[in-house]
Amino acid sequence: MQTEIAKAFDLADRVAVVTGAASGIGRAASILFAKAGANIVIADRSGDALSETASEISKLGRQVVPVVMDVSNRSEVEALIGTAIERFQGIDIMANVAGIMRGAMFLDVTEEDLDALIAVNQKGVFFGCQAAGRAMAERGGGSIINIASAGMDSPAPNISVYAMTKAAVAMMTRSLATELGPQGVRVNTVAPGFTDTGMTQRHWIDGDGKENLEARDSIWSQMSERVPLGSIGQPEDIAFAMLYLASDASRFVTGQVLRPNGGVAMP
Ligand SMILES: NC(=O)c1ccc[n+]([C@@H]2O[C@H](COP(=O)([O-])OP(=O)(O)OC[C@H]3O[C@@H](n4cnc5c(N)ncnc54)[C@H](O)[C@@H]3O)[C@@H](O)[C@H]2O)c1
Repeated sequence: MQTEIAKAFDLADRVAVVTGAASGIGRAASILFAKAGANIVIADRSGDALSETASEISKLGRQVVPVVMDVSNRSEVEALIGTAIERFQGIDIMANVAGIMRGAMFLDVTEEDLDALIAVNQKGVFFGCQAAGRAMAERGGGSIINIASAGMDSPAPNISVYAMTKAAVAMMTRSLATELGPQGVRVNTVAPGFTDTGMTQRHWIDGDGKENLEARDSIWSQMSERVPLGSIGQPEDIAFAMLYLASDASRFVTGQVLRPNGGVAMP
């Protein structure tokens, strides 16, 4: 018999849409949501890697619909939500995970970098919140999870625009939570610390997939030293925080920032 605790975290018969699902945190969250029982629409601009996530989910016996799209394109985001509704009659969980990082010192940031970061990290999440929020409000409930970053809590050189977009995500989340709460829609942010994904691996894996182990060990130890729990995160560590927010275990939680970050930022 299912325990009360297992039931609270159970996503059986729920429908989740996850962007950025071809890699890292989005991939881990899609697979964990599927393990918890959800059917999933996975989206990413990278089609080949998305197919790999889809086949992992199929192996778990869940239904999965991969959609190759760009979150910075409003009509493609609306079409994504339309696909989910058409296929599954509605959506229960929307995880806006897709994001990009471009580092530069503030005085050197080009307008192209500024626009690119805002387009994906800020407008992409906005479009996802709007399209999913409408569908969920109409249906009377749902959970939206937006991915920000510990960078929004810790000002540092080189990441000013990235951090700015992530702070905007947290504020967008809070505003929307006030508007959609009465319709039963919860909206929360997850702000991960430094996590071992494609976004961070580019510091030690080159374009041909060759890994520089010395560079990796040096970055891991530098990052880990700053963290009270003494390590960097794995994608699954972030996915478990997302599972909590996706599930009924967090039914009284909205407008919040959850920080799986090893303690690196404690605002
Ligand atoms: N890895 C970290 O240390 C870390 C820390 C804090 C926050 N984050 C955030 O977590 C989220 C996931 O990043 P990750 O670390 O898994 O990186 P990742 O690079 O492994 O995955 C990001 C995915 O998003 C997809 N994507 C990028 N732009 C897109 C677009 N315009 N449309 C559709 N898909 C797009 C990429 O193709 C990729 O599959 C991002 O929002 C990132 O900012 C990551």
